[in-house]
Amino acid sequence: MLELKSLKKAYLQGSQKVEIFENLNFHLKEGQRVAIMGKSGSGKSTLLSLISGIIKADEGDITLNSVSYKDLQEGELNDFRATNIGFIFQNFHLVSYLNALENVMLPAKVCNIANAKEKAIDLLKSVGLSHRLDHLPSQLSGGEKQRVAIARALIHNPKIILADEPSGNLDEETGIAVMDKLFELIKQNNTTLILVTHSKDVALRCEKTYELHSGNLNKC
Ligand SMILES: Nc1ncnc2c1ncn2[C@@H]1O[C@H](COP(=O)(O)OP(=O)(O)O)[C@@H](O)[C@H]1O
Ligand SMILES: [Mg+2]
Repeated sequence: MLELKSLKKAYLQGSQKVEIFENLNFHLKEGQRVAIMGKSGSGKSTLLSLISGIIKADEGDITLNSVSYKDLQEGELNDFRATNIGFIFQNFHLVSYLNALENVMLPAKVCNIANAKEKAIDLLKSVGLSHRLDHLPSQLSGGEKQRVAIARALIHNPKIILADEPSGNLDEETGIAVMDKLFELIKQNNTTLILVTHSKDVALRCEKTYELHSGNLNKC
């Protein structure tokens, strides 16, 4: 369902060109859950940004659900991302002036989702936050914020979830509880998952773990 073909990506840092990927190939089947580990600066976030289409590869192509990113115009790619991909970030990325319910409903404004409010309430209930619907992010704990972010990532039933160190800012116990919820929900929906993590315990929840090193994904 996801294929990366001969991906090439470099950044310009001043006048210096920094190669992140020279020839990256990778594929995932629907419903697969994989962890990606690797040192800071190895390119994990860049990889997720490429898969999400937020940044473009210099060469090569990405195909998700039989759609080649090369065939999509900018606007089409934005719509494709909004419909097919869910994100969870280390720093939650909630909108500070929207309450928990409104944050979860945000993707529904881009995709046409029937009964978005009911769905958002159900999801917040399933992550144990039915008593926090009208709380602003500043009124929530780290674990609660990440559970709101998980609900938001799932409201549009994305084909794939990209999670960038989702438990990186949480204490161990809270991180475990948040990961339990994430895995429970994605297993129910057979959602594909790419999970970037520094934790071996978190990685062990996935079917496979890869290490990103020198621009290559090696199976651990
Ligand atoms: N927009 C950018 N411009 C220039 N260099 C960047 C940019 N984004 C990331 N980098 C560099 O690319 C490398 C990989 O970054 P990143 O993908 O964030 O790594 P990771 O998530 O594994 O820590 C780092 O050396 C980083 O400094
Ligand atoms: Mg990163």
